[in-house]
Amino acid sequence: MPDISFIHPDGRVEGFEAPAGISLMQAASGFGIAGIVAECGGSAMCATCHVYVDPAWVDKLPAPLSNELELLECTASERLGNSRLSCQIRLSDALQGLVVRLPERQ
Ligand code: FES
Repeated sequence: MPDISFIHPDGRVEGFEAPAGISLMQAASGFGIAGIVAECGGSAMCATCHVYVDPAWVDKLPAPLSNELELLECTASERLGNSRLSCQIRLSDALQGLVVRLPERQ
């Protein structure tokens, strides 16, 4: 059960334990994290689950697939090198301690 932390644009941090096997977006929605909209429900069609992965974790995540990379062109907040769609990040014990930042807008 990995510990996950979300850092809001105002610097506020919300952390929780999430079960392995679900997506980061599902975990965030389940814990009521404001800032993850997830309009498409995780189908990689909306880009409203955009997060910035903490630099220490970027290389520990599986690389994004082509559909995720394409959709990252459509984020409401600036796309950065560490931008990911949280619905495409599957939680595992290897992600214990994962830290992501929320964008200003989705
Ligand atoms: S929830 Fe729509 S792209 Fe992630």
